[in-house]
Parts: sequence; C-alpha cells; structure tokens
Amino acid sequence: MVVDFNLMLSPGVADGVDPARLTGPLAARFADAYRAVEARREKGEIGFFDLPWTSETTRHVQEVADSFGQWFENVVLLGIGGSGLGAVTLRDALLAPHWNERDTEGRDYFPRLYVLDNPDPATVGPLLDRLDLRKTLFNVVSKSGSTAETMALYLVIRERLAVLVGEEKVRGHFIFTTDPEKGALRHIADAEKIPTLSVPPNVGGRFSVLTPVGLWPAAVTGVDIAALLAGAGAMEERCRTDKLLENPAGVLATLLHHATTEDGKPIHVLMPYSDRLRSFALWFQQLWAESLGKAGTGPTPLPAVGATDQHSQVQLFMEGPRDKVVIFLAVKVDGDPVAIPALHPEIVELGYLGGHTLAELLDSERRATAEALRQAGRPSITIELEKVDAATLGALFMLFQIATVYAGALAGVDPLDQPGVELGKRLTYGLLGREGFSPPSFGHADPRWRV
Ligand code: PA5
Repeated sequence: MVVDFNLMLSPGVADGVDPARLTGPLAARFADAYRAVEARREKGEIGFFDLPWTSETTRHVQEVADSFGQWFENVVLLGIGGSGLGAVTLRDALLAPHWNERDTEGRDYFPRLYVLDNPDPATVGPLLDRLDLRKTLFNVVSKSGSTAETMALYLVIRERLAVLVGEEKVRGHFIFTTDPEKGALRHIADAEKIPTLSVPPNVGGRFSVLTPVGLWPAAVTGVDIAALLAGAGAMEERCRTDKLLENPAGVLATLLHHATTEDGKPIHVLMPYSDRLRSFALWFQQLWAESLGKAGTGPTPLPAVGATDQHSQVQLFMEGPRDKVVIFLAVKVDGDPVAIPALHPEIVELGYLGGHTLAELLDSERRATAEALRQAGRPSITIELEKVDAATLGALFMLFQIATVYAGALAGVDPLDQPGVELGKRLTYGLLGREGFSPPSFGHADPRWRV
C-alpha cells in the first residue's frame, strides 16, 4: 500500500503545501504528536495498536465461528456506530457480491450476514418477517451493553423468538459481543449462559473492527481473519516511527490536519474507486467525525465513490468552495477486468471504448479526476491498494485508525471520547420515561413558525 501525496504539495498543485514544511515545522509537530500517542499507548489507554498480536482471541473467535456460527443459515448482527459499521465494511469488501441473495452453494455454505443498526421499523419488521428465525443467530454487539437502539432490537427479537421456539430455546439463538465484565448484556449472558465474546475495555467502539466486534461476523462468513490481522499488523509496524515521511499514518494525519487548520480545507472526501470499498468510506466517516469533531474544531468527512460521484459531487469538488481535500482509494487488481467489446466502431461516442476493459475505464476516470482537480488547484491524496483482500483491508483499517489518533493529538482533542452524543441520549431516555431522566422542554416552539 502506498500513500501518494504528490498532489498535496506545491508546486504540483496551486493550493499545495510547501514540501520544505514537511521536513521542518510539520515534521516537528508530528514527532510531538507521535510521542503523545505513544505515551497514552504505554499507559494502556489505546488498545487497538496491539490487536494484531492477540492470537488467543483470534483462535477463540474462529472456534466459535466454525462451530456454533455454522449451525445457522442467517446471522443478524445488532449493533450501531462502531459496533455495526466494521461488520458492514468487511462484508461488503470481502464477501462475494450480493452475498445475502446467493444460494447456499454460492456462499460456500457460510451463513447470510445482515446488520441491523437503525431501529427503523420499516426495515426491521420486514427483515424479521422474511427470515426463518428458527435458522437465525443474532449477534448482539454493544460494548456498553446499554445502547438504546441495539437493546430495543434485542428485546423485539427476543420476544419473537420466544413465541416461535419457546423461552427455553431462545438463548441458543444469541451470541453477545460486549464488555468482559460490565453492562446489561454481560449480566444477561451470565444469568442465562448465553455465549459471549469480549471487547477489550481499552478499545473504543469505532476502533473495534479488529476485535470480536468485526472479527466474529467476518470469521462466521469465511473471511480469513488471520490475514486481516496480519495486514493490520504490517501497517502497525510501518507506523512505528516518529519520522514523518516514513510513517504513512503520520503523513495522512499531518497533511489533513494542516489542510483543516491552516489551509481552510476542513472537508475530507474519501472516494474509493471501488464498489467494494463504498462502505469503507462510511466506516471512515464515523471514525473521523466522532473522534475529531470536538471543542469547536474538527474536519467534516464526506464519503463518495468513483466513478458514480463524478456525476454527482465532483462538480462541487471542482468548482465549489476550495474547502476540500479528496482522498482517493485506487485498486490495482480486482478480479476479472471485464473486456469491453469493440461494437459500433463507426460511432465516435462508443468506438473508443472497445478493446479496453471496465477496470481500465474506472482507473482512467480516477486518474483523470485527480488531474482535473490538480489543474483546478485542488489537492488530493491517492492511497494505492494492490487489491481488495483481507490483508489489504486490515492494513487500511489500521492506517486510518492510527491516523485518527495522531490527528487527535495534533488538534489537541481526545479522539477516544464522544461527549457530544451524551445529551441527545439523555433526552431520549427522558422522552421514553427511563428512571432518573426528565423529558426535555424543547425550548421555544411557537406555532406561528410552522407551515
Ligand atoms: O465509536 C463509538 O464509541 C460509538 O459509535 C459506539 O460504537 C456506538 O455508540 C455503540 O456503542 P455500544 O457498542 O456501546 O452499543
């Protein structure tokens, strides 16, 4: 994996950074941030760096996936935010396309994998009606064990299962992924002997894709989790240096932090030219937003996908406010490139396409978009991936997670907390009558200002 940041620098791009700064002040600032992160890591506060080396957990996850997990036709993960997005990303990137629509053979006899994150009755009800719940295992994923959306889904499903299979068999349809000691889910699991997987206490939700939160749904659908962790480990090793230009996560964090704070470019677009990595952009969005948006500062992550968004957002990226950096994800090889036949050679709009492949078209569009942005003076970064496989995805997760904690240190904010989501949670509890929480007054609500 290569992080190519030529198009962030002057004179290559008009709005670029002077390369001399990368060996001067920006390198010094990064070295400080690196040391701050290392200090927290040594204190045991940042656990995700060490996940590639936890082979005992990996073995356990694999065992539970190979045994219990394979008794079912469907696995439904209930989890939101960091407890759901990793599984979606892994499924969409690494499983065969349209996985849940394939027959058993098309899935190599592994189960279907659904992720319910939103408690939207219009999604939840129809899915539960459609699945044969007798053949379905529910993986309830909540580190805290108290997230309203996830717990409500658990209650709805538990009751449906009880009606269908009887109360005594309900526990056989659940596996919980939660804190090793605390929380309601742990309590229920202990009381009812429901199988569990643990989330290390020092790994927060959005940094937990390489814990059983992401590993188990991946393993149960046949993903090579050892390769995933090996890729992550290789990236973690590459980032063990305070020398800015040798540390890919350092370069990413430093340039994006600089763009936000000194260049007026706080909007960071992640644009994979790959359908399989569309969900990775959503995973990044949560990681970047919830980690860095605090204390009145922070970048706004914006997911996009190439080439689709060339017909949607690229107009804005080219001619809108000069407030963005586009991070392209370029994939060298992704299966059959699909030849374009040389039909209609006499029609100029079609003739030039024949003899090329869809892969060539897609990659040419990416290169052309980066160049068009450059000509318009707008910076971009390209992350080049050999292919989309477990090892590459592991490396990509680790790259962005490390970049996030560096970016937090550079900005002087704590990337591991999310105090801004607490008030909304408390007000929701009040509205639903949870003990100890009062309903909000909703401030000023004048009927004249409703139409
Ligand atoms: O990144 C985070 O910490 C959050 O997005 C959480 O993952 C999310 O709120 C779900 O929390 P929990 O796993 O406790 O249900």
